[in-house]
Amino acid sequence: MTTLPELLRTAIGRRGPLLARLHGEGTDCYRLLHGVTEGAPGLSVDRYGSLLLLQTWREPLAADAVEALAAIARGELGVELDVVANHRGREVPPDFVPHEPTPAALADRRCHERGVAFCIRARHRGQDPWLFLDLRSGRAVVQSIAAQKRVLNLFAYTCGVGICAAVGGAAAVTNVDFAHSALAVGRDNAAANDLPPERCTTVQSDCLPVLRQLAGMPVQRRGKHVPYLRVERQPYDLIVLDPPRLAKTPFGTIDVVNDYQSLWKPTLLALADGGTVLATNHVPTIDEAAWHTALRRCAEKAGRPLRELQPIAIDEDFPSFDGKPPLKVVLARI
Ligand SMILES: C[S@@+](CC[C@H](N)C(=O)[O-])C[C@H]1O[C@@H](n2cnc3c(N)ncnc32)[C@H](O)[C@@H]1O
Repeated sequence: MTTLPELLRTAIGRRGPLLARLHGEGTDCYRLLHGVTEGAPGLSVDRYGSLLLLQTWREPLAADAVEALAAIARGELGVELDVVANHRGREVPPDFVPHEPTPAALADRRCHERGVAFCIRARHRGQDPWLFLDLRSGRAVVQSIAAQKRVLNLFAYTCGVGICAAVGGAAAVTNVDFAHSALAVGRDNAAANDLPPERCTTVQSDCLPVLRQLAGMPVQRRGKHVPYLRVERQPYDLIVLDPPRLAKTPFGTIDVVNDYQSLWKPTLLALADGGTVLATNHVPTIDEAAWHTALRRCAEKAGRPLRELQPIAIDEDFPSFDGKPPLKVVLARI
């Protein structure tokens, strides 16, 4: 049986051309081993700058296994890396001895994508260290088209896409999320890139009432006393729509599988004429072509037909068995 260190060495070797490109453009954060598709079910190995982050969803890794993987990564990449292993799976047996990260490994740090800095924390309440690596190509395309645009970043989390838009020269970026703590990291990300706060603002709110107001649609809410943030209608040149798969809020339900339209229609209506949307769909079972057809149909019905629908490929550090990655990204122009 192939051992985990052997799998990691092979996976890093397979990424040779990708890593050369990423290093060349100032990127030091990427996935090195992608779970079952690379022979390691329930294990991911990621680099975030000087941090190596191992995450397990099935079997936890013993301390010596963590160190063996870290040694491979350090050797293959030729860089010193602190290592943290986070177990997200089932309970570990009482006699299991986990890897103990050093205080330095747990310290906050920055990683870079095309030279853009992002704050990283290896261990906190959430599962992700504040940057979703698989959306790299989406951030890159937004950065490349954002110059002079008014940008709305919905479900912004730590504002990763919004930061790239601002670095790309956007006139103004508005990042909306209801998670105060994520937006606070977003503001730190803006500061880390010397972005003036007024060019990259954060709005703590449920996205649903914000989006419907911007679209000129009535806000739906469970009870007329549910308060919501009032926003003035103004057109956006570029909207980023990266919704969770399923969520219930006092303002409706987000259901990417059964009802992408209830997000897609107001997004198109909130766009300026000639505007662009970067939209995602994280559901593995959704067929990409069927999703595209639904987006086109809904746009026609909303009176904002799409001039162009361009799929954005996910980088090869997130390989899939059939070339169909779970995360689908499109750039749509009206
Ligand atoms: C998949 S993450 C988005 C990742 C983000 N676009 C990025 O580039 O890193 C989902 C985010 O949506 C936020 N969220 C979920 N439902 C929301 C809602 N109804 N209104 C506002 N934010 C919401 C969560 O707080 C979380 O930050």
